[in-house]
Amino acid sequence: MRLVVLGSGGREHAMVRALQKGGHEVHWGPGNGAQGDWFPLPDAYNLEKLQALKPDLILVGPEDPLADGWVDKLTEGGLKAWGPTAAQARLESSKAWSKQFMRRHGLPTADFAVADTLEEAQAAIRQLCDHRGVVVKADGLAAGKGVVVADDEKSAALAAQELMAKYGRLVIERRLLGEEASWILLLRPDGFQALPLARDHKRLRDGDSGPNTGGMGTITPVESPFPLEKLGRDLFAALEQEHLNYFGALFVGLLFTSEGPQILEFNCRLGDPETEVLLESMPGDFLQALYGHPLPEWQGCCLDVVLAHPGYPETSSPSMRIEGIPEDLTVLQAGTRRDQQGQLWTAGGRVLHLVAHAENYEAAREKVYQAAQKITFDGKPAHYRTDIGTQLDLAGHL
Ligand code: GLY
Repeated sequence: MRLVVLGSGGREHAMVRALQKGGHEVHWGPGNGAQGDWFPLPDAYNLEKLQALKPDLILVGPEDPLADGWVDKLTEGGLKAWGPTAAQARLESSKAWSKQFMRRHGLPTADFAVADTLEEAQAAIRQLCDHRGVVVKADGLAAGKGVVVADDEKSAALAAQELMAKYGRLVIERRLLGEEASWILLLRPDGFQALPLARDHKRLRDGDSGPNTGGMGTITPVESPFPLEKLGRDLFAALEQEHLNYFGALFVGLLFTSEGPQILEFNCRLGDPETEVLLESMPGDFLQALYGHPLPEWQGCCLDVVLAHPGYPETSSPSMRIEGIPEDLTVLQAGTRRDQQGQLWTAGGRVLHLVAHAENYEAAREKVYQAAQKITFDGKPAHYRTDIGTQLDLAGHL
């Protein structure tokens, strides 16, 4: 089949690689420094050029083009797309709408209130903040910068003031304690296929310290402390009732608490960097899985360590020369560009994903961390976490 992947991160590189493994002709744009290895597609968000290519399917990776209605545009333009329409992507692009959807269908999630003014936000904080604190969320897409977990009413009120000024509408949510995991469903109008649980590591430094990032590494599988089959069925029934069971991925951010799994958020796309480990260890054809073909049993453990620019998450300047990429490991590119001489440079905060699939986490860690030491940005080591693949227990606190 002739396929197009839209996007330019490590997730899209993983999608391209998985589709290519299935023997398909894969075009990719806007892409990054890895793109030369595939059929490049510069000027990717151009309907006429996409129509001229006559692809069998276009897979839209990132949240922004989905929220902007790219699937609607492609479909209206006579093309077949994988991803939600803008209306369906509201599950991700509006936290208020998404929480109200969960409440309408009795799906397990923390108690919350929607606030359109600072006064409403302050009243909700007083009502929902307890000894654990409270969570303040911007309603719209905020590239990972729209959520503040506040320890007390005072810091929550400050966060509300800042976020309200920027985003205009907030969700104030009771704070729950537990362990987070990422659960991705491949949705179709007539059913879904759940992928194994994965775990992201959002903080910049070891031991979950430092600022929040887009994700510094992932592992899969991790064992769920609770069965998830009923939650999957209830969720699909709720989506079906509201015509949200689109052809695309639904990322369910879960929190495992003493009361069972709670839904933290939905993202209407594959996770990044979850996709890097899920597709690298997927035991069958990715494209067939999208169409509902059952996958054989998953084997082994897969781990992704992100190599980041030393200024990340504040800055990704200056661009630095990348050297030492090994041949014997899967290296997925994210914030990279290639110059005319073929030299690779950093061009973003999260630069490379080093991915290993092995019989256990110890073996995967050894492969990845050996390679990480050899890769340099301007002759110096990159920043990466050294503890990915050591926190495997989601039930320890229960
Ligand atoms: N890794 C979290 C996300 O993709 O949103």
